Amino acid sequence: MPSRRAFLAGAAGAPAILPGAAGRAYSLADIERMIAMGDVKGKLSRADLPTPALILELDAFEANVARMAAWARRKNRALRPHAKTHKCPEIALALMKAGAVGACAAKISEAEALAAGGVTNLLVTSACVGPHKLERALRLARRHPETILSVDDADHAAALDAAAAAAGLRLNLAIDLWIGNRTGVEPGGKALALARRVAALKHVRLAAIQAYAGQASHALGFENRRKVSLDAMGLAVETRRLLEKSGIACPLLTGGSTGTYNIDSEIEGVDELQPGSFLFMDLDYSRIGGPDGPVFRDFAQSLFVIATVISRPTAGSAIVDAGFKAFSTDRPFGPEPRNLEGVKYSWGGDEHGKLTLGNSGPPVRLGDRIEFVVPHCDPTVNLYDRIYALRGEQVEAVWRIAARGMSQ
Ligand SMILES: Cc1ncc(COP(=O)(O)O)c(C=O)c1O
Repeated sequence: MPSRRAFLAGAAGAPAILPGAAGRAYSLADIERMIAMGDVKGKLSRADLPTPALILELDAFEANVARMAAWARRKNRALRPHAKTHKCPEIALALMKAGAVGACAAKISEAEALAAGGVTNLLVTSACVGPHKLERALRLARRHPETILSVDDADHAAALDAAAAAAGLRLNLAIDLWIGNRTGVEPGGKALALARRVAALKHVRLAAIQAYAGQASHALGFENRRKVSLDAMGLAVETRRLLEKSGIACPLLTGGSTGTYNIDSEIEGVDELQPGSFLFMDLDYSRIGGPDGPVFRDFAQSLFVIATVISRPTAGSAIVDAGFKAFSTDRPFGPEPRNLEGVKYSWGGDEHGKLTLGNSGPPVRLGDRIEFVVPHCDPTVNLYDRIYALRGEQVEAVWRIAARGMSQ
């Protein structure tokens, strides 16, 4: 069995196991007070954080941001990253500082939370259907007239037009195209018919085509993914051309994802990229494969969950305080311990995870802290109130996941 010291040293990056006693023993009240006052820098460290804790390693995160921003610049594409991944205004603002034109939001609650945090140029990528969402969309557009709202239905477009007329507004609409397996109007003739209806309305204007192909983002293997994405985005480009030939101006075609950023940016007619997960990365994305092999390495893991060993029921197992409520559960696999070769995580329940240590496993003790790579970043982030942004071992900032848990 390897020595405990070897495991504490870990591989490159964070130590595999952090001893429980390594923190400065701030009380929980001390920590909450520091966070409330924004007074964490130079005081709070990784070892102090109450667990389970969602952490963001800033060096890796900033490298991801810089890489995607440089790529978009080089390819002459706008970047409007999807905030469904992070739900956090500070992160959207950091992206805009790096050159992003704004942010995408999956739904009106996300857009509201981002706008309240100072984010502008929002594109809501699914339709705000129903009276409450419509009312909120109008309220947002009144304060942020540049907001773009998605539509895939003529009656909904007419409802938005009527609401805009009553409010004295002109709304920007994106036609959401069904090029994947989710929402949208079918590309080609049906999209053209919708565009004609929109063009005839007085209180809305056609600002964009919104095109997201979920089946492409995680398609396994680079060449396969390339084909799937070219097919899907090809439909969007053809539809754009059809609209233009029919005399309907379409100033923007926006879409794409982390898995297809370097495929869609090669397609003539795609103006804007909207990837999200590249900021954090997760197990799912690391497994989609890249041009050089089965691991997708374009972006670095920057998001982790720290958990504490709370029980050692048998010699070969340990229980941590992170289960279904600490990690996304929508994938057929759970989280992976970071830098801990041979140790396997399995679900132990709502609050618990089970580590199988194996014969040559590390000498884990009660109170030790173990970090995990998350299965799927978006739904994991949605489980936390805050994200601790770390520079090395030090907490540099604590950001509220402002739009978390909002179901509308
Ligand atoms: C409409 C839309 N655009 C972009 C994205 C970003 O995808 P990813 O996080 O895979 O980069 C998503 C993710 O689900 C999405 O729904």
